[in-house]
Amino acid sequence: MSAYRRLFIDHVAQTSETPMIIEVDRASGMYIYDMDGKAYLDFDSGIAVSSLGHCHPDVMSAVQNQVASYMHTMVYGEHVQVPQVAYATLLSQTLGNGLNSIYFVNSGAEAVEGAIKLARKATGRIEIISCAGAYHGSTIGAESLRSDYEFTRNFFPTLPGVGHIRFNNEEDLEKITERTACVILEPIQAEGGIIVPQNDYLKKVRQRCDETGTLLILDEIQTGFGRTGQLFAHQKYGIAPDILLIAKGMGGGMPIGAFVANRDLMSHFTKNPSLGHITTFGGHPVCVAAALATLKVLISTDLIAKIYEKEAQLKNLLVHPLIKEVRSSGLMMAVELHQAALLPQVIDTCRERGLLTDYFLFNSASFRIAPPLIISHEEIILGTGIILKVLDDLQSQMQ
Ligand SMILES: Cc1ncc(COP(=O)(O)O)c(C=O)c1O
Repeated sequence: MSAYRRLFIDHVAQTSETPMIIEVDRASGMYIYDMDGKAYLDFDSGIAVSSLGHCHPDVMSAVQNQVASYMHTMVYGEHVQVPQVAYATLLSQTLGNGLNSIYFVNSGAEAVEGAIKLARKATGRIEIISCAGAYHGSTIGAESLRSDYEFTRNFFPTLPGVGHIRFNNEEDLEKITERTACVILEPIQAEGGIIVPQNDYLKKVRQRCDETGTLLILDEIQTGFGRTGQLFAHQKYGIAPDILLIAKGMGGGMPIGAFVANRDLMSHFTKNPSLGHITTFGGHPVCVAAALATLKVLISTDLIAKIYEKEAQLKNLLVHPLIKEVRSSGLMMAVELHQAALLPQVIDTCRERGLLTDYFLFNSASFRIAPPLIISHEEIILGTGIILKVLDDLQSQMQ
């Protein structure tokens, strides 16, 4: 075992007993390279983060220029920093629908926490509805939204007043009442294994929220920034949230998140009490500079316009007797196997052969494909070729 590997296990806190342990040397475009020079084709984007690929030149130069000008100067919300102002203005214009005030934070879970506080303060209500099978982050508030009791009971007590509805189940919408502060859901359920909304489900959720004075929070932390074929997934379904949550792909590989709302709604953090939500590093100028470069690339190129074509190519190629179904929304994809027991072998063997895919948190029969949006047709052929060969080899071992 290499010295770094040993030190990683001994001193970097571990989240599982079976970490992937790729010793990263560098990353560029569609590839991550280990210290032995082995190249891994990235079909995962570090879980839907590196949408422009690794070390995109525009992101790199934005980071370098910002580092050379200034880094941290003051806690969030006190100094006028040009990257924040430019980003907030551009994103507001791009989003429309009154989503014109952006609260910058450092991660997805923090965006969830901020949105929950804002919804409670603005409505004076404490009940929260989230969806079964959703993941919103690992802080205690975000974890409270999770539906699997076997997991959450290890961390009790979680937030009071959280109820769950089933995604795509219209009857459950009756659980949203005048007592509900907010409904929080992903427009496409990611960790559940890519579950897309059916029968105008999101419009019906929006309508029920309007009827009951409940705030609709859409978690676009995984679906945002082009991943599903539109800049944001809610734009595919003709609705807008009261509060939008973003992170992951936002920073082009740098850590940043935000919650976005109308200025009037956001003003609940400004007075009675003032400093209603504060953060030291949220909206760090270097991270926002990276996010601004990322957003500019996404809205000024044809990357997003080409996603449906790439989705179709992937789906056409991923046909095999061991594959039961491929579910997708743009370049967010779940490949479900007939036999869940084969999943670890498929993921591990793909990795050994130089292709990175990943598990979902709540779907034990499917693996994740979420490549950088820059993936080429040749790289799609290469990556799916590795998957199909792994499946062929498994099939022949089984005979
Ligand atoms: C839909 C969704 N929401 C929230 C989060 C939490 O984001 P973070 O890990 O940045 O806290 C994630 C992370 O996987 C996510 O997929």
